[in-house]
Amino acid sequence: MKKKLLSLVVIVAALLAAVYIYENRTPSAELSATERVVATLERGGCMSCHSSNPDLPFYATLPVAGAVVMQDVDSGYRAFDMAPMMEALKRGGRISPVDVAKVERVALDGRMPSPKYYLINWGSQMTSAKGEIIADWAEDYREAYYDDGLEGDMADEPLRPIALSLPVDKQKAALGKLLYHDVRLSVDNTVSCASCHGLNTAGVDNKQYSEGVGGQLGGVNAPTVFNAVYNFVQFWDGRAATLADQAAGPPLNPVEMASASFDEIIAKLRRDRQLTRAFTQVYPDGWSQANITDAIECFEMTLLTPNSRFDKYLRGDEDAITEEEKDGYELFKDYGCATCHVGPNVGGESYELMGLRKHYFADRGLPLTVEDNGRFKETGEERDRHRFKVPGLRNVALTWPYYHDGTRETLKEAVCNMGTYQVGVSLSDDEEDKILAFLHTLTGEYEGKPLTNENVQVAAEYDHD
Ligand code: HEC
Ligand code: HEC
Ligand code: HEC
Repeated sequence: MKKKLLSLVVIVAALLAAVYIYENRTPSAELSATERVVATLERGGCMSCHSSNPDLPFYATLPVAGAVVMQDVDSGYRAFDMAPMMEALKRGGRISPVDVAKVERVALDGRMPSPKYYLINWGSQMTSAKGEIIADWAEDYREAYYDDGLEGDMADEPLRPIALSLPVDKQKAALGKLLYHDVRLSVDNTVSCASCHGLNTAGVDNKQYSEGVGGQLGGVNAPTVFNAVYNFVQFWDGRAATLADQAAGPPLNPVEMASASFDEIIAKLRRDRQLTRAFTQVYPDGWSQANITDAIECFEMTLLTPNSRFDKYLRGDEDAITEEEKDGYELFKDYGCATCHVGPNVGGESYELMGLRKHYFADRGLPLTVEDNGRFKETGEERDRHRFKVPGLRNVALTWPYYHDGTRETLKEAVCNMGTYQVGVSLSDDEEDKILAFLHTLTGEYEGKPLTNENVQVAAEYDHD
């Protein structure tokens, strides 16, 4: 009798296991690569937890199980909104390289969905075969998305080299360069763009908050202008869509250049006969806000820092970076830093929550400011509170202090705190040093010479070599 029962149990268990494995099979090979990805993600229930409008499972309405589900849905959506990517996969459109990097990462380590989900929702487990489907697709995506000539294994790297140059009208850029350095854009002729974004100081001012006319302080740290052209939007809160839009801001910002209007600025510039003649030769309709900001944008398209040691490594020179720096890059990828800090600018491709894993603002110990709201200032959506455009990490060794609030003085602190607040790990000293070593390889060249910062007394916290 006992024996019979035992074999019955074994048979039932074997059957269940067979069904479970069958449910977890990979989508049919007849489908296109994109369709297989969609099928894998749909089967994985990703949209149950990663969308503002989740497809909830049937047990979400039950008393105890329901509360667990809703907590997952809340924190899942807080961590990652997958709706834009799913939409683009199904209907076409641009997919963010950040979304690709994030999904690829959780697919490869099988972390999503979690066991408590896939053990109930049979068929949703991310098996290694399904993970491969996502990884292959991500690889093809990068090769197509970044047309930057990386070869072999490097073609699949989440970080990409800075272009040697971008196509730009040289005459407009030359005018933009003059305007960029022109203090007449400010109300009392004391401040130019270069006052806060000096090209000899790595495009920043190395101050917590910038000083505008009359020594007035702003409320947020100035990012660098170098490689800003790669950012998907400009400013910490993304309020400018393009560099030209951005350039219209500072001249009229009361704590920066404080001019009353572009008409006021143009009246001053018009008195400069020589400049006006040069300007009208290139812009036949003469001075206007649109032409001024266009010229500045053209100039900023030349503010690239290619040829960093890291870029040489990406382009195939294996010896361009040391073993320690390579280890640092591997850690940067292993810890998922490279899911937010992606692409040529090593960031600048998405908005992310500051304090994803631990409440940054509670720990900071300073009162909250308007700027701390980040993207929320623009959208008024609660989910966007404390979300910032991810800063690019190019030349980051030269652009201290760090974070939107300029509260981290050294790069080591900034890195250590990223571990705590964004990744949820406490990096060891050795790991921090390796990541720092890697970040130092991101310093590039401007006009054929290594980018330097006149304010530098050799990056105090980390002495390379
Ligand atoms: C039951 C809800 C649930 C399901 C289903 C689910 N997730 Fe998640 N996901 C979460 C939660 C909660 C978090 C945040 C905590 C964490 O990272 O573990 C998260 C985090 C993530 C992150 C961010 C991780 C990081 O470290 O940045 C990604 C990417 C992600 N999920 C992708 C997916 C994908 C792809 C699927 C489908 C294959 C999926 N998730 C299915 C709940 C879910
Ligand atoms: C008084 C100092 C100051 C002046 C003058 C100034 N900026 Fe800025 N700049 C800042 C600060 C601070 C920010 C960040 C503001 C924010 O994100 O809300 C910024 C942001 C930017 C950004 C966005 C970079 C990014 O990663 O989002 C660009 C590009 C830029 N400035 C270019 C310019 C140009 C061009 C001029 C001249 C027309 C100029 N700035 C004048 C301080 C200044
Ligand atoms: C979930 C997305 C995310 C992850 C993962 C992440 N970062 Fe960041 N990183 C950000 C955001 C957002 C900021 C800006 C924070 C702020 O200004 O308050 C930032 C800022 C930084 C800065 C300061 C840059 C500057 O100019 O101010 C450094 C350095 C940095 N990150 C390195 C890392 C490293 C190293 C890792 C991995 C250990 C990492 N990040 C992981 C989103 C992320």
